[in-house]
Amino acid sequence: MKTKIKAIALALALALGIGVIGVAAVAADVKSLRPNAADQADSPPAIYKVMEGNRHERAYRQQPPLVPHPTDKYEIDVKVNQCLRCHEWPYSDQEKAPKISDLHYIDRQGVRQDTVNGNRYFCKQCHVPQADAKPLVENKFQPATLNTNLR
Ligand code: HEC
Ligand code: HEC
Repeated sequence: MKTKIKAIALALALALGIGVIGVAAVAADVKSLRPNAADQADSPPAIYKVMEGNRHERAYRQQPPLVPHPTDKYEIDVKVNQCLRCHEWPYSDQEKAPKISDLHYIDRQGVRQDTVNGNRYFCKQCHVPQADAKPLVENKFQPATLNTNLR
Protein backbone atom coordinates (compact mmCIF):
# COMPACT_ATOMS: atom_id res chain seq x y z
CA MET A 1 0.00 0.00 0.00
CA LYS A 2 2.74 2.44 1.01
CA THR A 3 4.75 1.79 -2.15
CA LYS A 4 1.61 2.37 -4.25
CA ILE A 5 1.09 5.80 -2.67
CA LYS A 6 4.76 6.62 -3.19
CA ALA A 7 4.48 5.60 -6.85
CA ILE A 8 1.41 7.81 -7.37
CA ALA A 9 3.13 10.74 -5.62
CA LEU A 10 6.18 10.29 -7.83
CA ALA A 11 4.06 10.15 -10.98
CA LEU A 12 2.20 13.33 -9.94
CA ALA A 13 5.43 15.16 -9.16
CA LEU A 14 6.87 14.16 -12.53
CA ALA A 15 3.72 15.26 -14.39
CA LEU A 16 3.71 18.62 -12.58
CA GLY A 17 7.41 19.11 -13.23
CA ILE A 18 7.00 18.48 -16.94
CA GLY A 19 4.00 20.82 -16.94
CA VAL A 20 6.04 23.64 -15.39
CA ILE A 21 8.87 23.11 -17.88
CA GLY A 22 6.27 23.15 -20.68
CA VAL A 23 4.77 26.46 -19.54
CA ALA A 24 8.25 27.97 -19.20
CA ALA A 25 9.12 26.85 -22.72
CA VAL A 26 5.91 28.39 -24.16
CA ALA A 27 6.53 31.65 -22.26
CA ALA A 28 10.03 31.88 -23.73
CA ASP A 29 8.56 31.51 -27.25
CA VAL A 30 6.06 34.40 -26.91
CA LYS A 31 7.31 37.45 -28.80
CA SER A 32 5.82 40.89 -28.23
CA LEU A 33 4.87 42.85 -31.32
CA ARG A 34 6.45 45.89 -29.68
CA PRO A 35 9.99 45.01 -28.60
CA ASN A 36 10.75 46.11 -25.04
CA ALA A 37 7.17 47.38 -24.76
CA ALA A 38 7.21 46.97 -21.00
CA ASP A 39 10.18 49.26 -20.33
CA GLN A 40 9.25 52.07 -22.73
CA ALA A 41 6.84 54.77 -21.66
CA ASP A 42 4.34 55.75 -24.36
CA SER A 43 4.74 59.33 -25.50
CA PRO A 44 1.52 61.27 -24.91
CA PRO A 45 -0.66 61.73 -28.01
CA ALA A 46 -0.40 65.13 -29.67
CA ILE A 47 -3.15 67.58 -28.76
CA TYR A 48 -4.58 69.42 -31.73
CA LYS A 49 -6.56 72.61 -31.58
CA VAL A 50 -10.08 72.79 -32.96
CA MET A 51 -10.19 74.98 -36.06
CA GLU A 52 -12.31 77.95 -35.10
CA GLY A 53 -13.76 80.89 -36.95
CA ASN A 54 -14.29 80.20 -40.63
CA ARG A 55 -17.07 77.88 -41.67
CA HIS A 56 -15.79 74.74 -43.34
CA GLU A 57 -16.49 73.88 -46.96
CA ARG A 58 -18.75 70.89 -47.55
CA ALA A 59 -17.20 67.93 -49.37
CA TYR A 60 -20.55 66.83 -50.84
CA ARG A 61 -23.99 68.38 -51.21
CA GLN A 62 -25.84 66.43 -48.49
CA GLN A 63 -23.09 66.81 -45.88
CA PRO A 64 -24.12 68.02 -42.42
CA PRO A 65 -22.08 71.22 -42.00
CA LEU A 66 -18.92 70.83 -39.92
CA VAL A 67 -18.84 72.76 -36.65
CA PRO A 68 -16.58 75.86 -36.75
CA HIS A 69 -16.18 76.03 -32.94
CA PRO A 70 -15.25 73.65 -30.08
CA THR A 71 -18.10 71.46 -28.80
CA ASP A 72 -16.63 69.65 -25.80
CA LYS A 73 -18.14 71.98 -23.18
CA TYR A 74 -21.73 71.70 -24.46
CA GLU A 75 -23.82 69.12 -22.66
CA ILE A 76 -26.19 66.95 -24.65
CA ASP A 77 -28.33 64.44 -22.76
CA VAL A 78 -31.97 63.55 -22.20
CA LYS A 79 -32.62 66.68 -20.10
CA VAL A 80 -30.29 69.30 -21.60
CA ASN A 81 -29.12 70.14 -25.08
CA GLN A 82 -26.88 73.19 -24.93
CA CYS A 83 -26.45 73.32 -28.70
CA LEU A 84 -30.11 74.32 -28.96
CA ARG A 85 -29.46 77.27 -26.65
CA CYS A 86 -27.77 78.97 -29.61
CA HIS A 87 -29.01 77.13 -32.69
CA GLU A 88 -32.76 76.90 -32.10
CA TRP A 89 -35.07 79.77 -32.93
CA PRO A 90 -35.44 82.34 -31.32
CA TYR A 91 -32.05 81.99 -29.54
CA SER A 92 -30.32 81.67 -32.92
CA ASP A 93 -31.26 85.27 -33.70
CA GLN A 94 -30.01 86.52 -30.33
CA GLU A 95 -26.75 84.56 -30.56
CA LYS A 96 -26.25 85.30 -34.29
CA ALA A 97 -25.85 81.55 -34.83
CA PRO A 98 -27.19 79.73 -37.92
CA LYS A 99 -30.67 78.36 -37.17
CA ILE A 100 -31.09 74.59 -37.46
CA SER A 101 -32.99 73.84 -40.66
CA ASP A 102 -36.62 72.69 -40.64
CA LEU A 103 -35.52 69.16 -41.55
CA HIS A 104 -34.41 68.82 -37.91
CA TYR A 105 -38.09 68.95 -36.84
CA ILE A 106 -39.44 66.18 -39.09
CA ASP A 107 -40.09 62.80 -37.51
CA ARG A 108 -39.52 59.52 -39.28
CA GLN A 109 -43.09 59.40 -40.56
CA GLY A 110 -42.36 62.71 -42.30
CA VAL A 111 -44.60 64.71 -39.91
CA ARG A 112 -43.36 68.17 -38.89
CA GLN A 113 -43.03 68.61 -35.12
CA ASP A 114 -42.71 71.74 -33.02
CA THR A 115 -39.56 70.60 -31.24
CA VAL A 116 -36.33 69.10 -32.60
CA ASN A 117 -37.08 65.50 -33.42
CA GLY A 118 -35.36 62.63 -31.60
CA ASN A 119 -33.63 61.53 -34.80
CA ARG A 120 -31.73 64.84 -34.90
CA TYR A 121 -31.42 65.47 -31.17
CA PHE A 122 -27.87 64.17 -30.68
CA CYS A 123 -26.17 66.82 -32.80
CA LYS A 124 -22.67 65.38 -32.62
CA GLN A 125 -23.84 62.23 -34.36
CA CYS A 126 -23.69 64.31 -37.55
CA HIS A 127 -21.93 67.63 -36.80
CA VAL A 128 -18.30 67.48 -35.75
CA PRO A 129 -15.56 70.09 -35.39
CA GLN A 130 -12.25 69.75 -37.23
CA ALA A 131 -8.77 69.70 -35.70
CA ASP A 132 -5.68 71.14 -37.42
CA ALA A 133 -4.19 67.65 -37.59
CA LYS A 134 -2.65 66.00 -40.63
CA PRO A 135 -4.88 63.26 -42.08
CA LEU A 136 -3.75 59.84 -40.87
CA VAL A 137 -4.25 58.31 -44.30
CA GLU A 138 -4.41 59.80 -47.78
CA ASN A 139 -7.95 60.56 -48.89
CA LYS A 140 -9.05 60.65 -52.51
CA PHE A 141 -12.77 61.23 -51.82
CA GLN A 142 -14.78 62.55 -54.76
CA PRO A 143 -18.43 63.51 -54.40
CA ALA A 144 -20.74 61.45 -56.63
CA THR A 145 -22.64 64.42 -58.01
CA LEU A 146 -20.62 67.34 -59.29
CA ASN A 147 -22.42 69.90 -61.38
CA THR A 148 -20.07 69.79 -64.34
CA ASN A 149 -22.01 72.62 -66.09
CA LEU A 150 -20.62 75.06 -63.56
CA ARG A 151 -16.97 74.17 -64.06
C1 HEC B 1 -22.76 79.99 -27.56
C2 HEC B 1 -23.53 79.73 -28.73
C3 HEC B 1 -23.32 78.40 -29.45
C4 HEC B 1 -23.44 77.14 -28.92
C5 HEC B 1 -23.77 76.72 -27.50
C6 HEC B 1 -23.22 76.23 -30.03
N1 HEC B 1 -22.98 76.93 -31.18
FE1 HEC B 1 -22.70 76.16 -33.04
N2 HEC B 1 -22.39 78.03 -33.80
C7 HEC B 1 -22.50 79.21 -33.08
C8 HEC B 1 -22.23 80.35 -33.95
C9 HEC B 1 -22.25 81.82 -33.56
C10 HEC B 1 -21.94 79.79 -35.24
C11 HEC B 1 -21.59 80.54 -36.49
C12 HEC B 1 -20.10 80.72 -36.63
C13 HEC B 1 -19.77 81.40 -37.93
O1 HEC B 1 -20.58 81.44 -38.83
O2 HEC B 1 -18.62 81.85 -38.04
C14 HEC B 1 -22.07 78.34 -35.09
C15 HEC B 1 -21.89 77.45 -36.13
C16 HEC B 1 -22.24 76.09 -36.07
C17 HEC B 1 -22.31 75.20 -37.19
C18 HEC B 1 -22.03 75.54 -38.67
C19 HEC B 1 -23.31 75.77 -39.43
C20 HEC B 1 -23.06 76.06 -40.89
O3 HEC B 1 -24.06 76.26 -41.59
O4 HEC B 1 -21.91 76.09 -41.32
C21 HEC B 1 -22.67 73.98 -36.73
C22 HEC B 1 -22.90 72.71 -37.52
C23 HEC B 1 -22.81 74.10 -35.28
N3 HEC B 1 -22.53 75.40 -34.91
C24 HEC B 1 -23.15 73.07 -34.44
C25 HEC B 1 -23.18 73.17 -33.07
C26 HEC B 1 -23.33 72.03 -32.17
C27 HEC B 1 -23.45 70.58 -32.62
C28 HEC B 1 -23.34 72.52 -30.89
C29 HEC B 1 -23.43 71.77 -29.60
C30 HEC B 1 -22.40 70.75 -29.38
C31 HEC B 1 -23.21 73.97 -30.98
N4 HEC B 1 -23.09 74.31 -32.31
C32 HEC B 1 -23.25 74.84 -29.91
C33 HEC B 1 -22.84 79.32 -31.75
C34 HEC B 1 -23.03 78.27 -30.87
C1 HEC C 1 -28.92 62.86 -38.51
C2 HEC C 1 -27.95 63.90 -38.74
C3 HEC C 1 -28.12 65.24 -38.06
C4 HEC C 1 -28.31 65.49 -36.72
C5 HEC C 1 -28.44 64.49 -35.58
C6 HEC C 1 -28.33 66.92 -36.59
N1 HEC C 1 -28.16 67.51 -37.83
FE1 HEC C 1 -27.92 69.48 -38.19
N2 HEC C 1 -27.84 69.11 -40.18
C7 HEC C 1 -27.81 67.88 -40.77
C8 HEC C 1 -27.79 68.02 -42.21
C9 HEC C 1 -27.76 66.87 -43.22
C10 HEC C 1 -27.77 69.40 -42.48
C11 HEC C 1 -27.75 70.07 -43.84
C12 HEC C 1 -29.10 69.90 -44.52
C13 HEC C 1 -30.19 70.42 -43.68
O1 HEC C 1 -30.34 71.63 -43.61
O2 HEC C 1 -30.88 69.61 -43.03
C14 HEC C 1 -27.81 70.07 -41.18
C15 HEC C 1 -27.79 71.43 -41.01
C16 HEC C 1 -27.57 72.06 -39.78
C17 HEC C 1 -27.27 73.47 -39.60
C18 HEC C 1 -27.14 74.49 -40.71
C19 HEC C 1 -28.48 75.01 -41.09
C20 HEC C 1 -28.37 76.02 -42.18
O3 HEC C 1 -29.43 76.40 -42.67
O4 HEC C 1 -27.26 76.41 -42.53
C21 HEC C 1 -27.11 73.69 -38.27
C22 HEC C 1 -26.80 74.99 -37.58
C23 HEC C 1 -27.35 72.42 -37.60
N3 HEC C 1 -27.61 71.46 -38.55
C24 HEC C 1 -27.31 72.24 -36.24
C25 HEC C 1 -27.68 71.07 -35.59
C26 HEC C 1 -27.87 70.95 -34.16
C27 HEC C 1 -27.67 72.06 -33.16
C28 HEC C 1 -28.23 69.66 -33.94
C29 HEC C 1 -28.64 69.02 -32.61
C30 HEC C 1 -29.84 69.55 -32.00
C31 HEC C 1 -28.25 68.96 -35.21
N4 HEC C 1 -27.93 69.87 -36.19
C32 HEC C 1 -28.51 67.61 -35.39
C33 HEC C 1 -27.82 66.68 -40.11
C34 HEC C 1 -28.02 66.52 -38.75
